[in-house]
Amino acid sequence: MEKKPQIIDIKNIVDERGQINFFEFEQEISFKIERVYYISQVLPNFDRGHHAHKKLQQLILAIGGIIEIELDDGLGNKNIFKLDSLNKALFVPAGYWRVLKFGSKEVVCMVFASQKYDENDYIRNYQEFLEYKKS
Ligand code: TYD
Repeated sequence: MEKKPQIIDIKNIVDERGQINFFEFEQEISFKIERVYYISQVLPNFDRGHHAHKKLQQLILAIGGIIEIELDDGLGNKNIFKLDSLNKALFVPAGYWRVLKFGSKEVVCMVFASQKYDENDYIRNYQEFLEYKKS
């Protein structure tokens, strides 16, 4: 998989009992998962993110609703990706400033990450991010 932000199709099978979704290392996800976290109960008028990562790669899913994710490469390119289905996930490579907008308080943002939590991997200041991307 090329290291650029992209919506990944998540396989699903539907039968009379309901739906099952699945993804696997190397098929749909290019990194080994070291950490899983999820964000929930985000109130209207709040969003999340507002940071970038130096090395961390992530696969992001919206469970039970819609999440819009703005990705900024710090070089003048911004794209908005809409997660509105359990059959879609967003691959976020390292080096993108992200803002996550939640469509409702009920939606859960499920994140599969390539590394354990490390505050040193975060860039939380946008100016610092722009400098980092220039260098
Ligand atoms: P933060 O990065 O601000 O959340 P968001 O992804 O919405 O920008 O994280 C909120 C707090 O949770 C912060 O104190 C760091 C902590 N945290 C961990 O301890 N481990 C984790 O895996 C994550 C994602 C966050």
